Amino acid sequence: MILRFETDRLILRPFEESDAPFLFELNDDEEVMRYTGDIPFKNIEDARKFVLDYINNPQGQIKKYSMGRLAVIRKEDDAFIGWTGLKYHQEGDFVDTGYRFIKRFWGGKGYATESTRRVLQHAFEDHKLEVVEAHVHEHNYGSQRVAQRLRMRLDHRFLWSGTKPARCYKITKDDFNNS
Ligand SMILES: CC(C)(COP(=O)(O)OP(=O)(O)OC[C@H]1O[C@@H](n2cnc3c(N)ncnc32)[C@H](O)[C@@H]1OP(=O)(O)O)[C@@H](O)C(=O)NCCC(=O)NCCS
Repeated sequence: MILRFETDRLILRPFEESDAPFLFELNDDEEVMRYTGDIPFKNIEDARKFVLDYINNPQGQIKKYSMGRLAVIRKEDDAFIGWTGLKYHQEGDFVDTGYRFIKRFWGGKGYATESTRRVLQHAFEDHKLEVVEAHVHEHNYGSQRVAQRLRMRLDHRFLWSGTKPARCYKITKDDFNNS
Protein backbone atom coordinates (compact mmCIF):
# COMPACT_ATOMS: atom_id res chain seq x y z
CA MET A 1 0.00 0.00 0.00
CA ILE A 2 1.38 3.42 -0.93
CA LEU A 3 1.18 5.78 2.04
CA ARG A 4 1.17 9.01 0.11
CA PHE A 5 -1.88 11.27 0.13
CA GLU A 6 -2.77 14.73 -0.99
CA THR A 7 -5.24 17.36 0.20
CA ASP A 8 -5.84 20.86 -1.13
CA ARG A 9 -2.88 22.35 0.72
CA LEU A 10 -0.90 19.37 2.00
CA ILE A 11 1.06 16.22 1.11
CA LEU A 12 1.14 13.30 3.55
CA ARG A 13 3.99 10.84 3.12
CA PRO A 14 6.15 8.44 5.18
CA PHE A 15 8.99 10.03 7.14
CA GLU A 16 12.31 10.42 5.36
CA GLU A 17 15.78 10.65 6.86
CA SER A 18 15.93 14.34 5.96
CA ASP A 19 12.92 15.00 8.25
CA ALA A 20 15.11 14.40 11.33
CA PRO A 21 15.94 18.08 12.06
CA PHE A 22 12.25 19.01 11.85
CA LEU A 23 11.15 16.13 14.07
CA PHE A 24 13.81 17.21 16.55
CA GLU A 25 12.49 20.80 16.44
CA LEU A 26 8.89 19.59 16.78
CA ASN A 27 9.56 17.57 19.94
CA ASP A 28 12.00 20.11 21.39
CA ASP A 29 9.13 22.34 22.51
CA GLU A 30 7.55 21.93 25.92
CA GLU A 31 4.25 23.38 24.76
CA VAL A 32 3.98 20.91 21.87
CA MET A 33 4.83 17.99 24.13
CA ARG A 34 2.76 19.02 27.17
CA TYR A 35 -0.14 16.61 26.66
CA THR A 36 1.50 13.92 24.54
CA GLY A 37 3.24 11.76 27.15
CA ASP A 38 6.29 11.70 24.83
CA ILE A 39 9.80 12.93 25.54
CA PRO A 40 12.01 15.10 23.27
CA PHE A 41 14.83 13.63 21.17
CA LYS A 42 18.28 14.14 22.69
CA ASN A 43 19.60 15.57 19.42
CA ILE A 44 19.09 15.42 15.66
CA GLU A 45 21.04 12.17 15.43
CA ASP A 46 18.59 10.61 17.89
CA ALA A 47 15.70 11.79 15.70
CA ARG A 48 17.45 10.37 12.60
CA LYS A 49 17.76 6.94 14.25
CA PHE A 50 14.09 7.10 15.19
CA VAL A 51 13.09 7.85 11.58
CA LEU A 52 15.20 5.06 10.11
CA ASP A 53 13.77 2.56 12.58
CA TYR A 54 10.22 3.83 12.05
CA ILE A 55 10.31 3.35 8.30
CA ASN A 56 12.47 0.21 8.10
CA ASN A 57 11.73 -1.95 11.14
CA PRO A 58 9.84 -5.07 9.97
CA GLN A 59 7.96 -5.07 13.27
CA GLY A 60 7.05 -1.37 13.04
CA GLN A 61 3.69 0.14 12.10
CA ILE A 62 4.67 0.94 8.50
CA LYS A 63 6.08 -2.44 7.51
CA LYS A 64 3.81 -4.62 9.63
CA TYR A 65 0.44 -2.89 9.30
CA SER A 66 0.86 -0.51 6.33
CA MET A 67 -0.09 2.38 8.57
CA GLY A 68 1.67 4.90 10.73
CA ARG A 69 2.30 8.52 11.51
CA LEU A 70 3.02 10.43 8.28
CA ALA A 71 4.94 13.63 7.63
CA VAL A 72 2.73 16.56 6.66
CA ILE A 73 4.29 18.80 4.02
CA ARG A 74 2.80 22.13 3.00
CA LYS A 75 2.55 22.29 -0.78
CA GLU A 76 3.07 26.03 -1.16
CA ASP A 77 6.64 25.94 0.22
CA ASP A 78 7.47 22.24 0.83
CA ALA A 79 7.69 22.96 4.57
CA PHE A 80 7.57 20.02 7.00
CA ILE A 81 4.86 21.25 9.36
CA GLY A 82 4.21 18.17 11.53
CA TRP A 83 2.73 14.71 11.39
CA THR A 84 -0.57 12.92 11.46
CA GLY A 85 -1.55 9.30 11.06
CA LEU A 86 -2.81 5.99 12.32
CA LYS A 87 -1.40 3.61 14.90
CA TYR A 88 -2.50 0.07 15.60
CA HIS A 89 -2.49 -0.80 19.31
CA GLN A 90 -2.11 -4.54 19.65
CA GLU A 91 -2.81 -4.58 23.40
CA GLY A 92 -6.33 -3.18 22.97
CA ASP A 93 -6.83 -4.20 19.32
CA PHE A 94 -7.78 -0.72 18.16
CA VAL A 95 -6.46 1.94 15.77
CA ASP A 96 -6.04 5.54 16.85
CA THR A 97 -5.32 8.68 14.92
CA GLY A 98 -2.77 11.15 16.26
CA TYR A 99 -1.39 14.50 15.15
CA ARG A 100 1.37 16.87 16.16
CA PHE A 101 2.41 20.13 14.50
CA ILE A 102 5.28 22.61 14.91
CA LYS A 103 3.90 25.51 16.92
CA ARG A 104 4.26 28.20 14.28
CA PHE A 105 1.79 26.21 12.15
CA TRP A 106 -0.91 26.02 14.86
CA GLY A 107 -3.78 28.31 15.39
CA GLY A 108 -6.83 27.82 13.31
CA LYS A 109 -5.03 27.35 9.99
CA GLY A 110 -6.81 24.02 9.85
CA TYR A 111 -3.79 21.89 8.95
CA ALA A 112 -4.44 19.30 11.67
CA THR A 113 -8.06 18.93 10.63
CA GLU A 114 -7.38 18.86 6.89
CA SER A 115 -4.58 16.28 7.09
CA THR A 116 -6.29 14.04 9.63
CA ARG A 117 -9.50 14.00 7.61
CA ARG A 118 -7.47 12.45 4.77
CA VAL A 119 -6.02 9.92 7.22
CA LEU A 120 -9.53 8.90 8.28
CA GLN A 121 -10.48 8.39 4.64
CA HIS A 122 -7.43 6.13 4.30
CA ALA A 123 -8.47 4.22 7.45
CA PHE A 124 -11.98 3.53 6.19
CA GLU A 125 -11.31 3.10 2.45
CA ASP A 126 -7.93 1.35 2.36
CA HIS A 127 -7.89 -0.51 5.66
CA LYS A 128 -11.66 -1.08 5.77
CA LEU A 129 -11.72 -0.19 9.45
CA GLU A 130 -15.10 0.19 11.15
CA VAL A 131 -13.96 2.65 13.82
CA VAL A 132 -11.00 4.91 14.61
CA GLU A 133 -10.23 6.37 18.04
CA ALA A 134 -8.44 9.50 19.26
CA HIS A 135 -7.13 9.73 22.82
CA VAL A 136 -6.84 13.29 24.07
CA HIS A 137 -5.76 14.76 27.41
CA GLU A 138 -8.64 16.37 29.29
CA HIS A 139 -6.96 19.81 29.10
CA ASN A 140 -5.79 19.60 25.49
CA TYR A 141 -8.50 21.84 24.12
CA GLY A 142 -6.89 22.35 20.69
CA SER A 143 -6.75 18.61 20.09
CA GLN A 144 -10.32 18.16 21.33
CA ARG A 145 -11.39 20.83 18.87
CA VAL A 146 -9.65 18.96 16.04
CA ALA A 147 -11.47 15.74 17.03
CA GLN A 148 -14.78 17.60 17.10
CA ARG A 149 -14.13 19.24 13.73
CA LEU A 150 -13.53 15.74 12.36
CA ARG A 151 -16.98 14.75 13.70
CA MET A 152 -15.47 12.34 16.20
CA ARG A 153 -17.75 11.65 19.18
CA LEU A 154 -16.72 11.60 22.82
CA ASP A 155 -17.10 7.91 23.75
CA HIS A 156 -15.77 7.81 27.32
CA ARG A 157 -13.26 9.29 29.74
CA PHE A 158 -10.36 7.28 31.11
CA LEU A 159 -7.03 7.60 32.90
CA TRP A 160 -4.17 7.69 30.39
CA SER A 161 -1.28 5.51 31.64
CA GLY A 162 -3.39 5.07 34.75
CA THR A 163 -2.80 8.66 35.89
CA LYS A 164 -3.72 11.38 33.38
CA PRO A 165 -7.38 12.32 32.79
CA ALA A 166 -8.17 11.79 29.12
CA ARG A 167 -10.99 11.51 26.62
CA CYS A 168 -11.55 8.74 24.10
CA TYR A 169 -13.16 10.03 20.90
CA LYS A 170 -14.40 7.65 18.21
CA ILE A 171 -15.63 7.88 14.66
CA THR A 172 -17.27 5.08 12.70
CA LYS A 173 -17.05 4.51 8.98
CA ASP A 174 -20.72 5.43 8.61
CA ASP A 175 -20.31 8.66 10.58
CA PHE A 176 -17.29 9.56 8.43
CA ASN A 177 -19.06 8.82 5.18
CA ASN A 178 -22.09 10.85 6.25
CA SER A 179 -20.11 13.85 7.53
C1 LIG B 1 -3.62 19.98 18.69
C2 LIG B 1 -3.02 20.64 17.48
C3 LIG B 1 -2.65 19.60 16.44
C4 LIG B 1 -4.05 21.60 16.89
O1 LIG B 1 -3.47 22.26 15.78
P1 LIG B 1 -4.21 23.46 15.03
O2 LIG B 1 -3.32 23.85 13.91
O3 LIG B 1 -4.58 24.52 15.99
O4 LIG B 1 -5.49 22.71 14.49
P2 LIG B 1 -6.61 23.20 13.43
O5 LIG B 1 -6.21 24.56 12.92
O6 LIG B 1 -6.84 22.10 12.44
O7 LIG B 1 -7.98 23.33 14.25
C5 LIG B 1 -7.96 23.51 15.58
C6 LIG B 1 -9.19 24.21 16.10
O8 LIG B 1 -8.92 24.24 17.50
C7 LIG B 1 -8.73 25.58 17.91
N1 LIG B 1 -7.66 25.55 18.91
C8 LIG B 1 -6.33 25.35 18.70
N2 LIG B 1 -5.68 25.43 19.89
C9 LIG B 1 -6.63 25.67 20.83
C10 LIG B 1 -6.59 25.84 22.24
N3 LIG B 1 -5.45 25.79 22.93
N4 LIG B 1 -7.77 26.07 22.89
C11 LIG B 1 -8.93 26.11 22.22
N5 LIG B 1 -9.03 25.96 20.88
C12 LIG B 1 -7.89 25.74 20.20
C13 LIG B 1 -8.37 26.32 16.66
O9 LIG B 1 -8.64 27.71 16.79
C14 LIG B 1 -9.30 25.67 15.68
O10 LIG B 1 -10.63 26.10 15.96
P3 LIG B 1 -11.75 26.49 14.87
O11 LIG B 1 -12.23 25.17 14.34
O12 LIG B 1 -12.80 27.17 15.64
O13 LIG B 1 -11.06 27.31 13.84
C15 LIG B 1 -1.75 21.44 17.83
O14 LIG B 1 -2.07 22.34 18.84
C16 LIG B 1 -0.60 20.57 18.28
O15 LIG B 1 0.18 20.06 17.47
N6 LIG B 1 -0.45 20.42 19.62
C17 LIG B 1 0.67 19.66 20.18
C18 LIG B 1 0.58 18.16 20.00
C19 LIG B 1 -0.71 17.60 20.52
O16 LIG B 1 -1.15 17.95 21.61
N7 LIG B 1 -1.29 16.69 19.73
C20 LIG B 1 -2.52 16.01 20.08
C21 LIG B 1 -2.28 14.92 21.04
S1 LIG B 1 -3.81 14.10 21.44
